[in-house]
Amino acid sequence: MVTNMMRGAPYRWRYRYIPWLFGGRVRIMMGLCAVLAFIVLLAHISSIMGWHRHTHEGNNQERFTVLVNTWRRPDLLKKSVQHYSRCSNVDSIRVVWSESREPPSDHLLSALQASVKKASAKSSHVIELKIDMHQEDNLNTRFQPLNDLPTEAIFSVDDDVLVPCDTLKLAFTVWLSARDNMVGFVPRMHWSHGEESALQKYTYGGWWSVWWTGTYSMVLSKCALFHMKYLDIYTNHMPAQIRDYVTSKRNCEDIAMSFLVANITRAPPIWVKGKIFEIGSSGISSLSGHSKHRSACLNAFADIYGHMPLIPSNLKAVDARTAWIW
Ligand SMILES: *[C@@H]1O[C@H](CO)[C@@H](O)[C@H](O)[C@H]1NC(C)=O
Repeated sequence: MVTNMMRGAPYRWRYRYIPWLFGGRVRIMMGLCAVLAFIVLLAHISSIMGWHRHTHEGNNQERFTVLVNTWRRPDLLKKSVQHYSRCSNVDSIRVVWSESREPPSDHLLSALQASVKKASAKSSHVIELKIDMHQEDNLNTRFQPLNDLPTEAIFSVDDDVLVPCDTLKLAFTVWLSARDNMVGFVPRMHWSHGEESALQKYTYGGWWSVWWTGTYSMVLSKCALFHMKYLDIYTNHMPAQIRDYVTSKRNCEDIAMSFLVANITRAPPIWVKGKIFEIGSSGISSLSGHSKHRSACLNAFADIYGHMPLIPSNLKAVDARTAWIW
């Protein structure tokens, strides 16, 4: 019995499938054609349906200023300027140079000018590059108001952070629909301990806690878009105590900016989904005790404000073209 079944099985298989295999070549070709036609149809469905996007490449297209904060790292600055000068909607690039005793070298300057010129030649817009020298090396200088800024929007970025141009464009679109809010890629959270009596009411939530809970209340200014008016408010109207705190602790200018914007908008910032690239060596955030210092800033600023202006959010803006199935 057993041997018969074993012997019979291959025959059954063959008789059943051989006709299919003979006709198979034609079938496979037809199948491939159908798949191909489907793909072609999908690729052209927008034009078949008449879904044309109105593009307004022209002078009335709104732009933003890239504000690069740098710390004597000419190679990073070169890469940064080269990258952002190629992104669309960039009006100009301003470099915050905080060490006026050591101005940028001629070599660096000509390299920067060359990459901006090269990018401008390829687009209809001439990108300007300006280096703003500041007397002292102070974290508050990155938010010094800039003269003759032609745009309302600023993209504040550290010299070692590269955001792909399409991701940056998405964030700018988000900012256009919420001009008073901070829009960024690096979310952080203030966690509350509840009890009012505790000396430390808040702890700083880093990447892990944001990732786990999907909750954030700040986006860091090392990589964020915001309105230019906040530079003036930060420098001239925010309580001086906060600027002094930032100066003496050499930390938390980004938390101070988050407090300021939240207190004015009474709204959370907006986190935009996107991969960003940190090209430099690990910065201040990898130092031990970083989170403790950041928590201290949260509590100090909340005391100065007399309340906690930060508002948690769970919103994440994504490019719908990459998320259409869901
Ligand atoms: C926060 O906003 C309130 C109300 O708009 C304002 O009165 C107050 O001065 C602001 N606080 C700080 C520290 O800027």
